[in-house]
Amino acid sequence: MNFDVNNYYKLIAPRPTVCVSTVNKKGISNLAPFSFATPLSFSPPLIGVSVGKGKDTILNARETEGFVVAPLVEEWKDKGISSEVSLPREESEFEEVGLAEQDSEKVKVPSIKESPVNVECDYWDDFEVGDHCMLVGKVVRVSVKEGSLKNGRINLEELGPVGHISGEEFCVSREVVEVGRE
Ligand SMILES: Cc1cc2nc3c(=O)[nH]c(=O)nc-3n(C[C@H](O)[C@H](O)[C@H](O)COP(=O)(O)O)c2cc1C
Repeated sequence: MNFDVNNYYKLIAPRPTVCVSTVNKKGISNLAPFSFATPLSFSPPLIGVSVGKGKDTILNARETEGFVVAPLVEEWKDKGISSEVSLPREESEFEEVGLAEQDSEKVKVPSIKESPVNVECDYWDDFEVGDHCMLVGKVVRVSVKEGSLKNGRINLEELGPVGHISGEEFCVSREVVEVGRE
């Protein structure tokens, strides 16, 4: 069977889903969910998010040179997903969806108070990738709430990270399986 090439991403699933916060130069914050997000490099620690051209996330990250990435977890998944709403640039999705802002330590962009993990990034670069823009950040701080880690990795069993499958379908991961590696 042939599958529509334009829908390839629906089979690269579930995709880890994150919310990215940014702020513009007037100090108005912005929040949006993304599932085209991936680590890019160990050293320096770089993370990439593929963002539709002209979106507030990319404009703000360029303008104030930073952003914060929060992996979406079950507890605040509905609010995080609804931050997809497109508001005028002078309105913040934080307030709209009912998530709280918290000062970050290394960047001037608010973190998500409810999020067990917030990855603070300095703007590194952005470049065109097809109809998207790859926003690249250098991770400068990772804040983690107590109880969010197990064996040095995210506490899957406790937090239930959310993955995007397609459209309105998501999954919550709580099961860890071990696979031996040579
Ligand atoms: C689960 C989910 C995943 C999404 N992933 C992406 C993505 O990877 N890239 C993208 O450009 N938009 C993605 N979107 C759509 C953006 O969140 C949406 O365009 C948003 O309005 C962008 O906000 P901004 O203009 O404030 O940056 C996704 C939406 C949802 C609900």
